[in-house]
Amino acid sequence: MNKHVEKLKSAHNLIAEKDFEHKELLKGYADRSLRIDISTGEITTHPVTEQMKQLWTGGKGFDLWLTFQEINENTRWDSPENPICFSSGPLGGTTSFPGSGKTLVTAISPLTDGIIDSNVGGYFGPYLKFAGFDALTLIGKSEKEIIIFIDAIKNKITIEEAPLESIDSHILAEELTEMYAENELEKKNIAVVSAGRGAQHTRMGVLNFSFYDWKREVPRLKQAGRGGIGTVMRDKKIKALVIKSSGISPDWEIEESPVAKLVTPKIIPTIDKTSKIEEICEKWENNPEYVIEMFQDIQEEYRCIPENALPIIQKKTGTPKANLYHIATFYKAFSLEKKGIKTIQVCKGTACHVKGSANLLSHLERLLGIKSGETTSDGRFTLEGVACLGACSIAPVIKIDDQVFGHVKVSDLEKLLTEAKESDHE
Ligand code: FES
Repeated sequence: MNKHVEKLKSAHNLIAEKDFEHKELLKGYADRSLRIDISTGEITTHPVTEQMKQLWTGGKGFDLWLTFQEINENTRWDSPENPICFSSGPLGGTTSFPGSGKTLVTAISPLTDGIIDSNVGGYFGPYLKFAGFDALTLIGKSEKEIIIFIDAIKNKITIEEAPLESIDSHILAEELTEMYAENELEKKNIAVVSAGRGAQHTRMGVLNFSFYDWKREVPRLKQAGRGGIGTVMRDKKIKALVIKSSGISPDWEIEESPVAKLVTPKIIPTIDKTSKIEEICEKWENNPEYVIEMFQDIQEEYRCIPENALPIIQKKTGTPKANLYHIATFYKAFSLEKKGIKTIQVCKGTACHVKGSANLLSHLERLLGIKSGETTSDGRFTLEGVACLGACSIAPVIKIDDQVFGHVKVSDLEKLLTEAKESDHE
């Protein structure tokens, strides 16, 4: 567990806990549902009868039926008795997509004060099944920010005060996956449900369902919550719902599909010797405030951010990997793919567009034999179409590395490329 996550964990305060008995699924059913009242800390299980299964489960509105058990005509979206109900079908699927891993969620909507439901992928539904529950009802309101953790390995449910975790759902999912996994395999068995920053301020905040992407080694999110179930979750002060499944064992791997390679022919480099990355981190005193500066140095050194640089920066600075991916993919100055020795940027801003920059870009694509966003096979040039370069008065504008060229005509391009190649040899 990295230092950052250790600090978050040590601020947790146990509010309630309950052991539960493991239950094998029979024909895909656990025959019980789970109910957690966060106002009182009461955690109870309830039978799911044959009749209920036939009538309601598997995408036939079981979550809606559970909702009706809790509400009355006076229940509004922000009433403590507004439940958030999760259910999943025999294989965690809906009737139309059995086995697809869907979770169905129901609550009274902040937008309409009527009942809304959503369905979403992201593993939570099947993991709830593997933990031995056909459905889950969250009820009540907490005074403090809490995390609810269902641990199907230790057969324990805890409600924990969690004051320090991030609000951003991507980072939160990463923090919690790291916090609750005791080894690499367990990361693959953790799903997190949370409502992000948006849900604090709006009436239509979504719920984010995370699942672990074993290739990138970060949790990824799917969203559900038409009508603002995320806002209901935040109103209850539930920061996240975490489930650890016991369902996948032994350790499993997945081979990359040859089709995926055709669809995504990007090559994201790694480097053999990582000591230079460590040196760069140390130059910036492993300070998370200077992650961007570290990225600048790394980009300059390798003409990309090598994929295996990210875990090193994460370890050195304690910055969640999701954050590092955000930075590496958000700023134009950084690139996970290796860039050419020179980068040619063609402005696509309004002033340049009306002066024919699209024509310049397509002409350069022909001259270089690549598409915008690609690098020539000799590694010499990367071509990019970019937003306003800030020199509109001399539109259309092209930038080659740090040099800006204005009033560029199609007939100038060959000469500019030749000069760029020559300056390369100097
Ligand atoms: S629009 Fe091209 S420089 Fe501003």
